[in-house]
Amino acid sequence: MDQFRIHGPCRVSGRVEAAGAKNAALPEMAAALLTEEPVELRGLPRLRDIRTMARLLGHLGVEAAERPDGVELHGGGEVSSDDAPYELVKTMRASVLVLGPLLARLGRARVSLPGGCAIGVRPIDQHLAGLEALGATVELQHGYVTAHAARLRGGRFRFDLRTVGGTENLLMAATLARGTTVLENCAREPEIVDLARLLTAMGARVEGAGGDRITIQGVDRLGGASHRVIPDRIEAGTYLLAAATTGGALDVAGAVAADLAPLLEKLAAAGCEVSPYDGGVRLQRDGELRRCDVSTAPHPGFPTDLQAQFMVMMTQARGVSTLRETVFENRFQHVPELARMGADIQLDERTARITGPTPLPLSAARVMATDLRASASLVLAGLAATGETVVERIYHLDRGYERMELKLQALDARVEREAA
Ligand code: UD1
Repeated sequence: MDQFRIHGPCRVSGRVEAAGAKNAALPEMAAALLTEEPVELRGLPRLRDIRTMARLLGHLGVEAAERPDGVELHGGGEVSSDDAPYELVKTMRASVLVLGPLLARLGRARVSLPGGCAIGVRPIDQHLAGLEALGATVELQHGYVTAHAARLRGGRFRFDLRTVGGTENLLMAATLARGTTVLENCAREPEIVDLARLLTAMGARVEGAGGDRITIQGVDRLGGASHRVIPDRIEAGTYLLAAATTGGALDVAGAVAADLAPLLEKLAAAGCEVSPYDGGVRLQRDGELRRCDVSTAPHPGFPTDLQAQFMVMMTQARGVSTLRETVFENRFQHVPELARMGADIQLDERTARITGPTPLPLSAARVMATDLRASASLVLAGLAATGETVVERIYHLDRGYERMELKLQALDARVEREAA
C-alpha cells in the first residue's frame, strides 16, 4: 500500500491544471449504456474510480478504447449482460449509476448494493422510488437490486432530498422512457448539467438541468456523441485550499469560478485574495487567516467534498471557526487524525469547532484516513506542518486525485510517494 512522505512546511505556489471532473465522468461513462453508438469522452481524469467504472462497463458489454485525450466507449449492438456484481461495485458507490441506463436500454437490471467511502449510511432509496415512479418493479434480494420494466414510462417524481446520484440515475433512465418525465427537488450540481449536455448531444430531450425541476421527453433511441468533461471543481478547490493554508500564491487553470463560488466566497472571507479570470482562478494569501463559519449543503451550497480540506485551513486561522456537516452523517473521520497532529477541534454531533492557529507537528507523525477527501485533508495538514508527516493508505486518495504528488511537487511541495 502506497504512502506519502511530506516534508513541511511548504508554500504551495505556482500553476496547476485542473483535471477532468471524476463526478461528471462517472455518470457520463454509465450513459454509454444508453446507446449502440460510440460515446467519446475527452478530458477524463486518470483515476482508479474511472478504471473501476471502465471494468464494470466492460463486464456489461461496453468496450473502452483509449484515445489520446480520453476514452471511447462502445456498447455495440447488444449490451451483453445485465448484472453488475458485488466484486466490482463494492469499491465504488457510483457503480449504482448503471442501474437507470441498463433498465432503460434492456428492460431489466441487476446491480449489487453499492460500497464506496465509509461516510455514512448512504442509502439508494430515492433512486429506487424514482424508478418505480417510471413503472419499474424493484426488488431487493441478497444484497442485489433487481429491476424490471418492459419499457419505462414517463412520470412525475419528487425527490425527498437532493441526491446527486439519484438525480443522475433518473435523468438517464427517463431519456428512453415512453412519454414525459418531470423530476422535482433535483440536485443542481454542475456535474448534472454536464451530464445533461452529453445526453442532449446523444439526442435526448432534457430541459431544466441545474435547476430544481428537470423535464425529460423520452425518445426511442439515443445516438453516439463526443463530449469534453468539465474541470474538477473539487480537485481545483483542494489545490486552492492548499495554497490558502500554506500562504502560497497559486493559479488553478481550468477552474470555473462560478462552480466554485461557495468556496471562493469563504476563502475571501478568510482573508485570501481571490481573482477569477477567464479560464481559471488565482489565489494569494499574504496576511493572517481569519476565522470563518461554514455549513455544507447541496449545490449551490458549500460542497461536503471540500469540508475536510477547509477544516485544515481553519486550524491555521485566528479564533474559533465552526464547520457544520449537513450532507453526510459520518464525515468527520479526519478529526481524530488532525487532533493527533496538534489541531484543536471539538466535535459536537455534526458541528466541529476549530480553535486556531495551532502549529502542526514538529516531529514525525503518521496519519491515516478512511475516505477520499479526508485523505486529501491529511496531505494538506502535512504541507502546513513543520517536520515530516507520513500519510498512509494513499489508495483512497488515488480514487479521486490524479497524480497528486506530481502536481504538488511542481508547486514547490516536498511530497514523495513510497511503497509501504
Ligand atoms: C455524490 C458525489 C460525492 C458527494 C455527494 C454529495 C459522485 C460520484 N459522488 O455522491 O462525491 O460527496 O454527491 O455532494 O458524484 N441519500 C438518501 N437516499 C438516496 C440517495 C442519497 O438518503 O437514495 C442521502 C445520502 O445518504 C446523503 C445525501 O443523500 O446523506 C446526499 O447523497 P448523494 O447526493 O446521493 O451523494 P452521491 O450521489 O452518492
